[in-house]
Amino acid sequence: MKFYIRTYGCQMNERDSEAAASALIASGHEMVHDEKMADILLFNTCSVREHAERKALGKVGILIKLKKKKPDIIIGVLGCMAQRLKEKIIEDIPHVDFVAGTDQFHRLPEIVASIILKRKHVVAVDADSEIIENLSGHIHSDNQISAFVSVMRGCNRFCSYCIVPYVRGREKSRGRKEIIEEAKKLVGSGIREILLLGQNIAAYGLEGRGQATEESPFAELLEELCRIDGLLRIRFASPHPQYFNEKLIDAVATLPKICKNVHLPLQSGSDRILKLMNRHYTAEKYLSIVNDLRSKVPEITFSTDIIIGFPTETEEDFNASRTLMKAADFDNAYIFKYSTRSGTKAAEMKDDVPQPVKDERNQILLADLAEMTERHNKAIVGSTLEVLVEGVSKRNSERWCGRSDSNSVVVFDPVPGIKIGDLVKLKITRATTMTLFGE
Ligand code: SAH
Ligand code: SF4
Ligand code: F3S
Repeated sequence: MKFYIRTYGCQMNERDSEAAASALIASGHEMVHDEKMADILLFNTCSVREHAERKALGKVGILIKLKKKKPDIIIGVLGCMAQRLKEKIIEDIPHVDFVAGTDQFHRLPEIVASIILKRKHVVAVDADSEIIENLSGHIHSDNQISAFVSVMRGCNRFCSYCIVPYVRGREKSRGRKEIIEEAKKLVGSGIREILLLGQNIAAYGLEGRGQATEESPFAELLEELCRIDGLLRIRFASPHPQYFNEKLIDAVATLPKICKNVHLPLQSGSDRILKLMNRHYTAEKYLSIVNDLRSKVPEITFSTDIIIGFPTETEEDFNASRTLMKAADFDNAYIFKYSTRSGTKAAEMKDDVPQPVKDERNQILLADLAEMTERHNKAIVGSTLEVLVEGVSKRNSERWCGRSDSNSVVVFDPVPGIKIGDLVKLKITRATTMTLFGE
């Protein structure tokens, strides 16, 4: 049958969708990119903020019309929201045929087969550790050069605002051998850049051991991946600052294939709020990681996640985030307005920062960020960047594009002989807020 899958949420969800699609294809189904063509509609959902859930529930809810017209169509809700709301999804939206949680992706072909046969609702939300090695299937086109590889699942951190540990379960790391094999296979099929994924990726291989350990199995994994011939670049997301120890700092600083662009979630610049968030570091500690890496690799860039309007956040706390953002001199930041997630520790506190104040603080940080980005982009003009060639530019088919080490899009006129997947040096001649132009 023809299936369509829509993904909400983070890159880990995108990776799960890809692996799920690959399993469905292996069992004889065909993937389509137009939902109107599909017999099976799948929604891989996110629970991280209320807005993310509302979007998916709204979309699935309106499918009632389609279900009336085409009663045989199969509708499945997968992923984090499925794990959180379980059978409640089917109780509220009875035209949903099945719900499959975060550890049930490997069972999709079987679940779909049972629905075709029996036409009975299925709720599959058990935690199942088997999944960890069962989902290594990839789907990529011939000119794709970048791929996701999941190295661990789950999270043990329990940051007080966050639903992820409740919907993704405890940390489980994949075997190093399996990860290396998967990476080698990808490189063999033309992939040049790998983005390693895990909710608490820097804790890879520690399995919840010690919070401030000196070991870094993740740094060792990076080292081993760097030895794969033909693999040109490695990125990773997201490390928790507490595990960004000396070993990992050294690995990032010294291994040439590791992109000199680190996504290091800050969440808040106020020590009082960081403590309430259960983040286990201070603003000073955070900055020391940034400064240490900068002193070793002057051209390194940083991006981050920040939450504004966490319960009890005062003007002073907010200003501490603002100050830290400037001190870290981020290249990019994802700014989120706090959203209460029931069941988390922070949900016991009153969501007391009024919406207009959250909106205002959001605007202030976005303006600060725009200023930083503009300054960085201007400073790049005239310099030479190494760019991994991705192919024809989406906006202008006569031009080509690629990405710099810091993940900025660079547009350029192709020269004869240039190929997708080449690493080229480009002189940056012009910059807008979103794009760099090079020759
Ligand atoms: N594991 C990753 C983050 C996963 S969630 C990490 O620790 O870095 C992605 C981002 O969503 C978080 O970094 C945080 O900034 C934001 N977020 C998580 N829960 C939130 C909530 N309840 N309200 C607002 N933003 C939230
Ligand atoms: Fe959520 Fe914290 Fe785990 Fe990230 S580290 S997924 S923010 S609990
Ligand atoms: Fe959302 Fe689940 Fe990712 S809650 S952010 S899709 S881990």
